[in-house]
Amino acid sequence: MTENSLILTEQHGRVGLITLNRPEALNALSDAMGQQILAAAQAFDKDPGIGAIVITGSAKAFAAGADIKEMAAKSSVQMYISDWFSVWDALARVRTPMVAAVAGHALGGGCELAMIADFIIAGENAKFGQPEIKLGVIPGMGGSQRLTRAIGKAKAMEMVLTGRIMGAVEAEQTGLVARVVPVESLLEDALATAAVIAGMSKPVTMIAKEAVNAAFETTLAEGVRIERRSIFACFATDDQKEGMAAFMDKRPAEFKHR
Ligand code: CAA
Repeated sequence: MTENSLILTEQHGRVGLITLNRPEALNALSDAMGQQILAAAQAFDKDPGIGAIVITGSAKAFAAGADIKEMAAKSSVQMYISDWFSVWDALARVRTPMVAAVAGHALGGGCELAMIADFIIAGENAKFGQPEIKLGVIPGMGGSQRLTRAIGKAKAMEMVLTGRIMGAVEAEQTGLVARVVPVESLLEDALATAAVIAGMSKPVTMIAKEAVNAAFETTLAEGVRIERRSIFACFATDDQKEGMAAFMDKRPAEFKHR
């Protein structure tokens, strides 16, 4: 385990685990914390020994938002010049699949960080919300866009305009989270799910992630074109040859890039 004070990183087989570690502030996301999360995720991304990343918090709080105390006195110009929150755009560009294991509060930037991950597995006590409106601001780490794409306009608009918190059951019903599990088995479940991904070909999971994400960026025709080029690119990998040969030989695939 490596301690960077604001986060902990560990390797579980081929899964890189990032644990937010600021319990005294319910994992409020300071700028320094964002930099540490990004550095850890980028290091895992470049590591051929890592095939998937899990990001998690504590049983009480995944993260209670961006750090309000750090932001409160900032001017608009200071935020503009420093490009505040841009660290999270860089995190969204990490190509290795990332699973968020969310228990407790996932509010504001916490909900947005969870949505930057490729999918969310939630503990039964998870609470999602974008309460920024109560602070006189709006979401700043992608929430107005990713929440709307995840759960649709009506519910996203209601949550962003009123600050209403959504529980785990509703989050699953609306498609915000992939699955709800007991809090006690959340991390184990997320690590096991990530291990399944990490057992695939890393370049191919990266290509798959890019193709699915294209659905949020472009038209259907262009998205299908991206998908078609991407599957053709898979045929340039030795892992495609191995995967299909293993099927025909009736044996498990031994991917080279995992
Ligand atoms: N920033 C800074 N500190 C925070 C914080 C945040 N987002 N959330 C909690 N904390 C701190 C509290 O100030 C408190 O510190 P002190 O003990 O020094 O006072 C400590 O964490 C524990 O919090 P509470 O005592 O409030 O705990 P609680 O269990 O009573 O309440 C809570 C929990 C409902 C999550 C409450 O802490 C809360 O409402 N937090 C703020 C949620 C929020 O508004 N998030 C959005 C932030 S803005 C944002 O994220 C912008 C963006 O889009 C990027």
